[in-house]
Formats: sequence, structure tokens, C-alpha cells
Amino acid sequence: MSNELDFVIRHADVVTASDRFSCDIGIRDGRVAMLGHDLPRAPRELDASGLLVLPGGVDGHCHLDQPMPEGMRMADDFLSGTRSAVCGGTTTVIPFAAQHKGQSLQAAVDDYHARATGKAVIDYGFHLIVSDPSPHVLADELPRLIANGYTSFKVYMTYDDLKLNDREMLDVLSVARAHGALVMVHAENSDCIGWLTERLLGDGHVAPHFHAHARPAVVEREATHRAIAFAELVDVPILIVHVSGADAIEQIRWGQTRGLPILAETCPQYLYLTAADLGGGEYEGAKCVCSPPPRDPENQKAVWKALRQGVFSIVSSDHAPFSYDDPLGKKPGGNEVAFNHIPNGIPGLETRLPLLFNGVNEGRLSLHQFVELTALRPAKLYGLYPRKGTIAVGADADIVVWDPQRRVKIANASLHHAVDYTPYEGIEVTGWPRHCMSRGELLVEDGRFVGAEAGRGQFIAAGRPCLD
Ligand code: URP
Ligand code: ZN
Ligand code: ZN
Repeated sequence: MSNELDFVIRHADVVTASDRFSCDIGIRDGRVAMLGHDLPRAPRELDASGLLVLPGGVDGHCHLDQPMPEGMRMADDFLSGTRSAVCGGTTTVIPFAAQHKGQSLQAAVDDYHARATGKAVIDYGFHLIVSDPSPHVLADELPRLIANGYTSFKVYMTYDDLKLNDREMLDVLSVARAHGALVMVHAENSDCIGWLTERLLGDGHVAPHFHAHARPAVVEREATHRAIAFAELVDVPILIVHVSGADAIEQIRWGQTRGLPILAETCPQYLYLTAADLGGGEYEGAKCVCSPPPRDPENQKAVWKALRQGVFSIVSSDHAPFSYDDPLGKKPGGNEVAFNHIPNGIPGLETRLPLLFNGVNEGRLSLHQFVELTALRPAKLYGLYPRKGTIAVGADADIVVWDPQRRVKIANASLHHAVDYTPYEGIEVTGWPRHCMSRGELLVEDGRFVGAEAGRGQFIAAGRPCLD
């Protein structure tokens, strides 16, 4: 094997979750081979003077080409979704292989591999979604899949086609405990939502903004507390996903203070959107329909504060891409429908890092926290570290060169996903990725996607979750 370097990044101001140092980065065979000064010349070089050099982002929660019920389709497949991700500085995505009720988990995984293969341009792992924990799934399939590199799975406490009852939740948590997996919990109380929805519809309240009335904070708070109680009962770590505001945070803090291994995730929508973005009656509010819904400015402040204080381990996009003007998207069958029939979810793969980085520029969190929340911790929790999540000798050369000063007004026309809108249209941020590399290959240069062979992205089998 030749000792020559393939690529050198010169004058790098490297920032990881724990350190900041200046050096050249030498890359060979897709991995970081050397960190040092005056490294030998390489056929390809990049001068990073005046910029920041960070580990590529790991998006630990996004939905790509997930099979949907009849009449709905996600706008992004693995090609458009991963292209968009890398343009926003993310070099690894972890979407979901979702089991539908009655289906074997292995069949869901096989189907999902077929959707990713030949399309992804960056590396990816899979979480599982367990919606039908039959005795066979619990005793055979889940343990086998965990051993084969699917070490995290999501369970839902709401959505009729996905939700588990309390007893099923306990069963799944107990398999996670026995086999060392991490369970992600969508915490909203299904019966409360159903009851409120029926009353709202009965009173003729059908507009998109009633989505938030059907899913108030108390509904999330109750389910969050219940999930924490289950984790305590089974004695297993859990991660509460897409936490929207103060009430749920209070429960998480309570669990953490009690010494329970309760982890939590939030998303940019809870930092930048509010219920006002669901509109006052106009259908365009459907663009911001996601669950839990965005809350109010006080809740936004509570989420920023909890980020700063370390209550959250990760910030993910929860990218769930449905186009607005699309009969398979936000207008089912081409119609403006009642709020409870609007597909839930918003796009955000490409804007996740710039929106959070803007918080660094505004002094809301440190640069090291930014790297920890968006790269290191998701890599560790989902078993991809040390290949992913840091810049170190031996790690994959997944590297983002950031321009911390670049001011950008977010516009859907400049994004690379296949969705026809962004909920962040017009928001101004400071800081944007300038160059982005996946396993030593520059995919974004000077802010432009320079092309990549569809399918170059590799599936990474996950190791055991690391909670340190
Ligand atoms: O509304 C959302 N969050 N849709 C995506 C699916 C999920 O629950 O994460
Ligand atoms: Zn969810
Ligand atoms: Zn999600």
C-alpha cells in the first residue's frame, strides 16, 4: 500500500466536540491518515484558511422514501435526500426501516435496503420502527437484527397504524435491555389526541392550525412521563425524540435528576417555528404540520436553554418530506383536507446544521456543543463512532469546511431536496457549509453540489449504542 496521501486540507482550524487545534489533515483511502503540520503534498489540496473544519454532521432522525399508506408519498428518495443532506453539511443519515403491522421486521429491512442501494450519495445506517411486536418479532427477529447492526428502534405512542400499547412498549424495552439496543420514543398520548380531534372536527374546526389544538403540550408531557416510567420499570435507557417544549423538558429533567438514563432529542422546528406558522385558518399552514407541533416563543426559549444546559443529547432534522402542492403530499388527492388528514412532517435535512449553527453565532450554545449535538453524540448513540462523528486519525474523512461568516437568507429555490417548499423560507442565518467531503470525496465545493455517483453511499452496520 502506498504511503502517499490522496488529499490534504491545509491550515485547518479543526473543531471537534472536545478540542480545537490548527493543523493540516492528510487523507488516504477515504480515511483521515495524518493530522500535523507541513504534510507532504497530495494530488488534491484545499486551503481552509479563515474557515472552520468540522466533522460531517450525522442526522440521527430523518425519513427518506419510507413506505406510506395508500395515497401518500415522501418527496425525497435516497438520492435527493442524501444530496440535500450533504449540501447542508451532513455526511451520514439514519432513516427508518418501518415495519407495518403484520409485516416481518426483516422484510421491512430488506425492502428499505432496496430503496437505498444505488441511490444514496452519503453513508447511512437504519433505525427500525417496531409497530408489531409479535412473539416472533420479540424473540427472534429483533435480537437477530440487533446482532446484525440495527441497534436502535423507534416506537410510537400515537398514530393508529404504528402505535404500541403500554404492555407492548414494555415488551420492546425489555428486548432492548436484554440485547443492548436503544429505543427512541415518539411520546404523545394517542387517546387524548383522538378525543380532542373528534371534538374539534365536531365543532367544524378543520383548518391546519387546529392540528396544534389537537396535540397540546400536556398530551406530550403525559406520554413523556409514561415513557420515562416504563424505562425506570424495565431499567433501560430510552431516547425521547422531537421534544417540543418546556413541559416535556421538565419531565426529562425530572427523570435525569432521578438518575435515570433518559436521553432526548430536539429539532430545528422547535427552535425556529411556532404554532403561529400553522396559520390562522389558511391552508398554507399545512406546510408546518408536524408532530408534536411547534409551540410558542416561550417554549422555543426553553428548548434553547435546555440545549445549552445539556438536557438534550442530539439535534436531528426529523426530515419528513411531503410536498405542499402534491396530491400525494400535503393536499391528499389534490384537496385541502381537515387537519387530521394532512400528512405529518416537514423537510429539514439541509437546513438543520445552518439553523443550529446560527445559534452558535448568537451565543446560544458553544461551537463544541454544536459538534457534539449534531455529529459526535448521534454517532455514538447509534453505534457509528469512531468511524463517524469526529476528526481523528483512522476516522472516515467525513469533513465539512464551514464559512462561519456567510449570511444566507434561506430560500427553497436554493435547496437540493425534492420538496416544493421549506418552512424556513426567508429566515436569515449566519454560517453555511462551503465544502463537504464524504470518505475523502469532495461532494460540495464552494457551496455547489459537484455531483456524486448515485449509490456511492455505503450502509454502515451499527455497533452497540455508546451512552458515554
Ligand atoms: O410529524 C412528524 N414528526 N412526522 C414524522 C414522523 C415522526 O413521528 O417522526
Ligand atoms: Zn415521531
Ligand atoms: Zn420522525
